[in-house]
Amino acid sequence: MARSGREREGGGEERRLVLGKYELGRMLGQGTFAKVYYARDLSAAAAGAGGGSSSSVAIKVIDKARLRRTEGMVEQLRREISIMRMVRHPNVVGIREVLASRSRVFVVMEYARGGELFAKVARGRLTEDHARRYFQQLVAAVGFCHRRGVAHRDLKPENLLLDEEGRLKVTDFGLAALPEQLRHDGLLHTQCGTPAYVAPEVLRKRGYDGARADLWSCGVVLYVLLCGFLPFQHDSYAKMYQKIFKADYQVPPWVSGDARRLIARLLVVDPTKRASIPEIMLTPWFRKGFVPPVLSPQVSPKKRLVDDEDAVGALLEGGGSDRDSSSTASLSPRSCNAFQLISSMSSGFDLSGLFESEQKAATVFTSRAPAAAVAEKLEAVGHALGFEVTRGKGCNLRMEAKVDGTNGRLALTAEVLEVAADVAVVEFAHDAGDALDFNKFCAEDVRPGLADIVWAWQGDSSPATPAAVAGCA
Ligand code: ADE
Repeated sequence: MARSGREREGGGEERRLVLGKYELGRMLGQGTFAKVYYARDLSAAAAGAGGGSSSSVAIKVIDKARLRRTEGMVEQLRREISIMRMVRHPNVVGIREVLASRSRVFVVMEYARGGELFAKVARGRLTEDHARRYFQQLVAAVGFCHRRGVAHRDLKPENLLLDEEGRLKVTDFGLAALPEQLRHDGLLHTQCGTPAYVAPEVLRKRGYDGARADLWSCGVVLYVLLCGFLPFQHDSYAKMYQKIFKADYQVPPWVSGDARRLIARLLVVDPTKRASIPEIMLTPWFRKGFVPPVLSPQVSPKKRLVDDEDAVGALLEGGGSDRDSSSTASLSPRSCNAFQLISSMSSGFDLSGLFESEQKAATVFTSRAPAAAVAEKLEAVGHALGFEVTRGKGCNLRMEAKVDGTNGRLALTAEVLEVAADVAVVEFAHDAGDALDFNKFCAEDVRPGLADIVWAWQGDSSPATPAAVAGCA
């Protein structure tokens, strides 16, 4: 586990986790490949910034080895950093610099003191005026990104932070896509995001326009802000997908007519009929009290992108040599301000524990085969893996291992649901036996046998098939 930046050691002296000029504090968030920590810029603090926002930063710590182990992740980080540099906007979390040690990359970002908008909504729905203020800022930021050819692709309240003045800040461009990742048909082909916020065309995986998909997510965010709960919600992923594919949602009575009409223009299954950013901005609900944010002059994004890519590449490639444990590598002089290589960490700090958590396997996949064919395949794969397979309601199946595993006999249910004419969704649920055995079943055992019918595993950061890798955004 990460230690607090001010944890006491040996009953007295304070141990501080220091990274160059930054003193690391508590963990703010955690993803599969990275953890985000609060940190204080000691040089800014010494210069008199005190506890103010300029001395506070958020640092995303990424394990290089883990990143390299997963196909496409190095490229994704490179992209995320380039994108953060391109989209400097008052409502987007700003990047300060990128640092690296032999084994880790540190992305130093602006700190949003107000935390996640999600936490606010979790305490209850917002008033229309509050919801509008956040939605206006969200649309301003998303429109700015889209004009630069960047689709976020994972917009949800957890990725919307607030600064000390309550200003909204979009973060986490880890799934964002740049135009060069578009296939020849001009569409994106990677299934990304969190299902409850994901547009139907993304779940269908026929290729989609990332900007239009973001607008669906904006519609879900607006709904959540006004209602305090999700528009498409179900215990079963399959049923959730079914609702998304039909835009089957209800708006509670307290939502005004204008807000309802705006939601209805965003939660439109056909992306070509969904409201665009200018159309949203013309609606009466949006226009009320809207003050466009003041933008500061941008550094030419093209030039920065080239610099960043060179520098990030150097940072990612560096490391691994045992002889090199305290070396520094200087980057091109042009990028020295942005990219310092940090070689020294205060002694006694082992960051290896920062990455101990293991990834939970995806338990849901989509298929373009009919539900009956999917069930048949699952039955055959289950038998081949040594399970007793019984058919349940509809196309559902129950599988039970014939021998005991680590902690009893593994048993699971596969719920198979045809959510659209050409889309089936399968969700594995753990019924009995060891949770790690179930994780292994979903992550490894069942996958090879299902490869020819799986379209995409939901939540996998890497695409399901080599074919998908070739076209992945
Ligand atoms: N959590 C993740 N990123 C953050 C940031 N930049 N500021 C505050 N909390 C965060």
